Amino acid sequence: MGFIPDNTIDEILARTDIVELISSYFPLKRAGRNFKALCPFHKEKTPSFMVSPDKQIFHCFGCNEGGNALHFLMRYEHLEFPEAVKVLAKRAGVRIPEAKKESPGILELYKINNLAMQFYHHILLNSSQSEPVRDYLAKRGLLKTTWEKFKLGFSPPQGEALVNFLKEKGIDLEPAERVGLLMRRESGGYFDFFRGRIIYPIFDLRERIIGFGGRVLDDTLPKYINTPETVVYKKGENLYGLNLSREYIRDKGFVIIVEGYMDLISSFQVGFNNLVASLGTALTPEQVRLLKRYTSSVVVLYDGDKAGELAALRGLEVLLEGGLEVKLAVLPSGFDPDSFVREKGKEEFEKIIKEARNILEYKLEILLPQYNLQSIEGKVNLIKEMLPTLAKIDNHIMLSEFVKQLADKVSVSEESIWAELKKGRERKRGFNIEKGSLEERIPIFSSLREAEITLLRLILKEKSLVREARSLMEEDFLSPEVKKIVNLLFTLEEGNKPIEPSRIVSYLGEGFPNKMVTRLLMEEDSEEAKQDYTKIFSECVQKLREDKRRKTCERLREEIALAQKEGNLERLEELLREFNAIACGRK
Ligand code: CTP
Ligand code: MN
Repeated sequence: MGFIPDNTIDEILARTDIVELISSYFPLKRAGRNFKALCPFHKEKTPSFMVSPDKQIFHCFGCNEGGNALHFLMRYEHLEFPEAVKVLAKRAGVRIPEAKKESPGILELYKINNLAMQFYHHILLNSSQSEPVRDYLAKRGLLKTTWEKFKLGFSPPQGEALVNFLKEKGIDLEPAERVGLLMRRESGGYFDFFRGRIIYPIFDLRERIIGFGGRVLDDTLPKYINTPETVVYKKGENLYGLNLSREYIRDKGFVIIVEGYMDLISSFQVGFNNLVASLGTALTPEQVRLLKRYTSSVVVLYDGDKAGELAALRGLEVLLEGGLEVKLAVLPSGFDPDSFVREKGKEEFEKIIKEARNILEYKLEILLPQYNLQSIEGKVNLIKEMLPTLAKIDNHIMLSEFVKQLADKVSVSEESIWAELKKGRERKRGFNIEKGSLEERIPIFSSLREAEITLLRLILKEKSLVREARSLMEEDFLSPEVKKIVNLLFTLEEGNKPIEPSRIVSYLGEGFPNKMVTRLLMEEDSEEAKQDYTKIFSECVQKLREDKRRKTCERLREEIALAQKEGNLERLEELLREFNAIACGRK
């Protein structure tokens, strides 16, 4: 939870009333024990945004946003966690311990970046030596309002322009070196890192400048140089343009990912605002998490030449792993989004985006002509190539749908694809589903999942059950999210800490998908249902245990077979004893 102590956060939450907080932004209507309103996080006509005064949480049954007062502030005001804590602390009259504040050193770094941006921007707009740069940008179709919006700049070629500017401002040059703006001469003294380049400042979500890209005006190489990784610039944790596009992404319901600065800027200029740029590097899981705050659907828009490469597709699988729906839009060969939108205009661009196709379909289409499907070997190899991508799909409906398509196109049975997929998954997770037909297997999977979710739901609501659930072990649960929550509940119980809804969601941390927890907490049970809590609880426990037993038996069977093959009698005897004990239900 960063540098603010947990008990301070507890204190702040305890002194905040979520109903009061949210009502200060928009009116809430009473609905039974709860309050409701139209959800501020997605468009809707009937209210599904609920706030619970008892539990001090909110949840939207439409878009599944949810959390406590802090999460509400973070999402509504677009604050990061520490800022939201500060705002609430002030409201609640709680003091945050001083020593833990962001170090002044870091603030100095942002300040220097900001000064440099202003310097470069001023030079671009006003200096006579920028005449050719202004011509260049104009020739590339960028309007002056766009230069201003993106705070574009120009770094003079002389070599000490920024050095002198910072000196005049009385700025220490050593931190300017640390943010990558200055370089140290061997003979002593500093010189500018960016010389004679168009400057693209890179903003984070708090509108702070974390780094810069610099492009030459002609064909010299390298075309771009960029701020290296610094204390404030972590390349894999940020996406260019997201500070400007996040609202549009939420509104449109999807994000378009492009590669370059110019791709994003030109698209913005013609009114496509739901974009981010990856800046030419492979997407990271952190970036995917960042996007998931705003949408679950992605259209990747690559240059016409790049989209045909399997390696490029592989780079996108991290999006699938993140549970996002991934489509690919392809430009005609020779175009990148920037040149396309400039030459063909908005409507054509829109058409390309509309024609985006699912990444799996796309990959299959690339692969099909590469294999001879008349031969068994060809089929096997094609499917082998598709499997890793399939295995990354988080959504079961999407997966089933695609397995069907694949089976059809390659003319193999769906069953055999599932079997291969399952092999891969077992290897990866050490997770066994009972052998059997597909029809048998899937229900087991889902009912197990149901059992663990129900169990979680019960222990979230009935604190006395937390203790009873302790007889279950972490490995009894399938889903890493459920595991994490259950573990947290165990830890809270052990430490005699209050198990309260609003704190549970705060302990789970910022990155955690709270949606499941707030939803489970918010769903009300009837009084009758509450009578049955203990009974349902033991049913769930039993189901999970049974599954564990089944898995153990499966493992033992395999080990027994192995011991037999090896003729290891001692081991065999030991294994049989263990197997019998479990089979007779003694374990
Ligand atoms: N890039 C980089 N360093 C390079 C080349 C590219 O950092 N030497 C990054 C930049 O962020 C660039 C992106 O990769 O925006 C895409 O590269 P490219 O397509 O070559 O550049 P464009 O964005 O198309 O730039 P322009 O249109 O100005 O040529
Ligand atoms: Mn380009």
